[in-house]
Amino acid sequence: MASSASSQLPGDLGRLPEDLGDLDAFKREVSQLIGVNLAGYQDRQMERRILTLMRQEGASDPTTYLEVLRSDARKLREFALGVTIHVSEWFRDAGRFEDLARVVMPELLARFQRLRIWSAGCSVGSELYSTMIVADRLGALERCEFLGTDVDAEVLGRARAGVFDAGEQKGLAARDARRYFEPVGDGALQLRPDLVDRARFERHDLLADPYGRRFQLILCRNVTIYFTQDSKARVYGHLSSALDVDGVLFLGNVERVTPPDSSLQPVCPSFYRKRA
Ligand SMILES: C[S@@+](CC[C@H](N)C(=O)[O-])C[C@H]1O[C@@H](n2cnc3c(N)ncnc32)[C@H](O)[C@@H]1O
Repeated sequence: MASSASSQLPGDLGRLPEDLGDLDAFKREVSQLIGVNLAGYQDRQMERRILTLMRQEGASDPTTYLEVLRSDARKLREFALGVTIHVSEWFRDAGRFEDLARVVMPELLARFQRLRIWSAGCSVGSELYSTMIVADRLGALERCEFLGTDVDAEVLGRARAGVFDAGEQKGLAARDARRYFEPVGDGALQLRPDLVDRARFERHDLLADPYGRRFQLILCRNVTIYFTQDSKARVYGHLSSALDVDGVLFLGNVERVTPPDSSLQPVCPSFYRKRA
């Protein structure tokens, strides 16, 4: 997968047309159809994506597009995939994963007997499995539990299968490919079944569903960048509550907890520790 969210949609619109007319109504209606509330996402980005998808479909206006989506389950599915961006990589932002491997995870392992690790907005699973490989290198697999969640059921199915085609192997080093995967044809790699079996994947909407508790490490990377400020603040508050004291929140490379949350102390770029 490519790494730039903004380059996801071919023909993405540089400017929005003046008359967005019934786009608000469209967003409300389509949110019901796909089960994801689009009101929590930044308007301009979301509207660009909707209009791009609408034009790719050849629909002239949101009302017509809504009719198409109502009557065609496959197109509705494509729409849902198109509005929730699924770009992911192995060991995304390699320097941050080095910090995880050298400093953060060893400290967590020194502090806690067991680590419950949650990749929130896990897409096809490369992020959670990268963390699993880090734990394996530290000899700590048996002490860790791995949960991946996403709002999108399709990517979760792919994460559970643990098969990554050639386009989904960005960031994966050849030595890791040899050690942890089996080739399954057409350049695709199957993650070792003993590792796939260690991960649990569940559907969870960060903007709507109740959060679990007592995690020691939460990765929420490149997910909230699409959310409104209000939604971000709520999500970070919930993620903080889901962490044990001294647990760590791991964000994407350019992400910050904004507005700052007093319960989350920045420790090094991209990492926050839950305060007592
Ligand atoms: C850009 S991908 C990031 C994947 C991975 N975290 C990474 O950084 O490589 C964003 C993921 O967030 C998911 N997502 C978007 N809105 C969500 C929500 N409200 N709740 C949970 N996941 C969401 C998308 O379906 C997508 O798989």
